[in-house]
Amino acid sequence: MYKKDFPVLNKGITYLDSGASSLKPSIVMEAMNDYYNNYGVNVHRGVYEISHIATEMYEAARERVAGFINADTEEVVFTRGASSSLNIVASSYGLANVNEGDEIILSELEHHSHLLPWQNVAKVKKAKLVYIPLTKEGRITVDNFKSVLSDKTKVVALTYVSNVMGYVSPLDEIINIAHQNEIVVSVDAAQAAPHKKIDVKKLDCDFLSFSAHKMCGPTGVGVLYGKKELLNSMDPIEFGGDMNDDVGLYDATFKDAPYKFETGTMPIAEVIGFKTAVEYLESIGMDEIQRHEKTLRDYAVEKMLKIDGVKVYNKDSETGILAFNIENVHPHDAASVFDKNGVCLRAGHHCAQPLVNWLGEVATLRASFYIYNTKEDVDKFIESVIEARDFFGQF
Ligand SMILES: Cc1ncc(COP(=O)(O)O)c(C=O)c1O
Repeated sequence: MYKKDFPVLNKGITYLDSGASSLKPSIVMEAMNDYYNNYGVNVHRGVYEISHIATEMYEAARERVAGFINADTEEVVFTRGASSSLNIVASSYGLANVNEGDEIILSELEHHSHLLPWQNVAKVKKAKLVYIPLTKEGRITVDNFKSVLSDKTKVVALTYVSNVMGYVSPLDEIINIAHQNEIVVSVDAAQAAPHKKIDVKKLDCDFLSFSAHKMCGPTGVGVLYGKKELLNSMDPIEFGGDMNDDVGLYDATFKDAPYKFETGTMPIAEVIGFKTAVEYLESIGMDEIQRHEKTLRDYAVEKMLKIDGVKVYNKDSETGILAFNIENVHPHDAASVFDKNGVCLRAGHHCAQPLVNWLGEVATLRASFYIYNTKEDVDKFIESVIEARDFFGQF
């Protein structure tokens, strides 16, 4: 029912790679064009009317995105995307607060964009990375989290929803326990924000990062949410125009958050398009989006389990991600059959190499469903699974 909103789907493709990047509805491009056609100028600087209007549009987007996650407006920093946001947390908060011998708790489910910044902190500060043991299904549990918690733990950095398995981490309880021990929690919500309602006040996380392009928004923009007092206590990691207050030859002072983290000219059109994307998602309703994806996924899993020679790694996942392989078929060979049939999905290690190693594979296939997918898409996908199995496999 939503397909008509997404011009790329006019190509007749079956798009099952929204975990990598979602498609964008035409109203998002229209919002960006409106900015370029009617304003197109910089924000926070101009002393003329169209610059004031552009500034208002940019700041209205901040307010809208803050409302989307129930944050205060000044707690929303616009960044280049989730990877940038996660890097700011590690390179600003982490390098300043983690010391030799401290421990950082992570999981093997983490995307490289959440793993590598903390690997860097651990190397530079001689701290230790500690991994929550996963259950045999590949899940994080509160008990397993408690088993690695120690009086040396300084930071917990976890994904909200795994980009390979689609599991939702039990963050409410983990954050509660972390805070009882005065530990800061950074949440990677790149796969959560597009698919489920997030309330940062209720969740009580210290930092939360996500990207617009995975939630019907433009590329090149994302969010770092941080609690006000934390953001204001942190140093910027990029320096330059617009983030400063007073600049002398040898020193400068910086604006309060969020502005001190938004250096130079920001992706203004993309921020404005992001606002429209958030409005679009909210007009459908996050609960409805989650329900729709789960329905499609359950339908797909039911069919997959009836096909001989197919291995599903996350049968009971609660979100719209399906991780699988076809026995005796390399995922990239299988991907060529999907591609021939116009079915777009992902093959590889999904920027989560430790997890794919944990699964004992070199690569997996991933189908990820979103609001514009239908049962017919699932049927096409299943036909391609069988075709790939019969063409390359030994059945
Ligand atoms: C769980 C997770 N974290 C972080 C990222 C990085 O997002 P981006 O590439 O938009 O910076 C991704 C992207 O696939 C992801 O799935």
